[in-house]
Amino acid sequence: MEDGISAASLATMGGRCQKPSLAWPSPRSLPLPSEGASVASSTPHLTARPGHPLRGTVRAPGDKSISHRALIMGAMATGVTEIEGLLEGDDVLATARSVEAFGATVERLGGSRFRVTGQGGFQTPTGVIDCGNAGTGARLLMGSATGYPIVATFDGDASLRSRPMGRVTDHLTRMGARFDWSGRPGLLPATLGGGALHAIDHVQTVASAQVKSAILLAGLNATGVTSVTEPERSRDHTERMLRAFGAVVRVEEVGEGWIIRLQGGQPLTGTTVAVPGDPSSAAFPLAAGLIVPGSAVRVEGVMLNPLRTGLFDTWIEMGADLTIANRRVSGGEDVGDITARHSALKGVVVPEARAAAMIDEYPILAATAAFAAGRTVMRGVGEMRVKESDRIRLMVDGLRACGVAVEEESEGFIVTGGRVAGGATVHTAHDHRIAMSHLVLGLAAADPVTVDEPEMIATSFPGFVEMMQGLGGEIG
Ligand code: S3P
Repeated sequence: MEDGISAASLATMGGRCQKPSLAWPSPRSLPLPSEGASVASSTPHLTARPGHPLRGTVRAPGDKSISHRALIMGAMATGVTEIEGLLEGDDVLATARSVEAFGATVERLGGSRFRVTGQGGFQTPTGVIDCGNAGTGARLLMGSATGYPIVATFDGDASLRSRPMGRVTDHLTRMGARFDWSGRPGLLPATLGGGALHAIDHVQTVASAQVKSAILLAGLNATGVTSVTEPERSRDHTERMLRAFGAVVRVEEVGEGWIIRLQGGQPLTGTTVAVPGDPSSAAFPLAAGLIVPGSAVRVEGVMLNPLRTGLFDTWIEMGADLTIANRRVSGGEDVGDITARHSALKGVVVPEARAAAMIDEYPILAATAAFAAGRTVMRGVGEMRVKESDRIRLMVDGLRACGVAVEEESEGFIVTGGRVAGGATVHTAHDHRIAMSHLVLGLAAADPVTVDEPEMIATSFPGFVEMMQGLGGEIG
């Protein structure tokens, strides 16, 4: 039976290198300029056309955060880890290739089932660890590799080369790691010398799960107790999964935040991981359901970890008709099936404290806010500027090109909803979420919306176009 969800109810929900065992598809090969992410692409554009209601039921692809972690911890562990529902996006496949380069074996069993056989540690790889477009993959792999006495060079595509790595490597250096930067310090490529780590106490200045996770994964192989204090909580998938792999992780709740403590020297043991559906991906078909007249879209198997559901809380405050059914626990996470029906939305002020629980969702929130009555104020989101692109800048530019009134601030932006003209070609700067957000917008705009570099969508959401077409959306 379906029950209505409210913001309140969501908030309470709760050395030897082996040959790779699989020929993984290559990551999107991108030109590597000296700096910046703005690279021309010859890939055909993709256009979304309005006028067709979206109706039907789909399944959310596997969660990207959990998929990266399952592969990495499976490789650090001793024995076999079976993963069900792994996201087969380019970012995650880059991590699969990376852990193979570090000595683990990764087998595709069919469907989205994978088996990782870990050696209980990482070995020095023969080649460069290419993390593709994946900030999460790069930062978590650097953290986990740091604990072992190995040398490894990390690199990525043009976008990843422009993203700050110092936010992780500064702390890993305090733990005893050594990093050589071949270009600008703090930007990939970088060569790590790992091993002989000691624990640190780290207090987060930004609510970043990537930073927390890199330190905890390094702390597993450090002497002493590593602690990470988060005044604002970030997604806790690493803590949950470390426990599933047999580690003891202590969490002390302190006000709105918490302190996470991990004793070094704990071995990980292979386990099974059921990857729930990614709320960050489910957001796109659900958004189309909300803004395209006549639509009703149901997405099944969506993870409802309260540190990931800020977007759904915000949409409900905007008046969205969102319902949840079949709440259950799967793979240690709350999961449910969410239905979005076309709704008359109104603008809201998004609480700044919610930013960490929806940091990847502001682009699609902004797209839906373009159809809401009044202003939607999104502040305290400076972190958006250091994602796959400067997402504040890109959304401001893209929405304005589509005739939407947007005010830009240094750490936020304000969208005033109304008539969305569309009729533009939007530059996406290699950013999958910028591309998908504008395509969803185009399904409800007055005129079609086109995006460049649509191949980047496969980093997080392979099958996005086919899924939207299957629901009745005209994208092609
Ligand atoms: C992620 C954390 C977030 C998010 C990213 C995935 C993770 O980054 O933007 O897409 O899996 O830990 P930050 O932790 O740096 O905010």
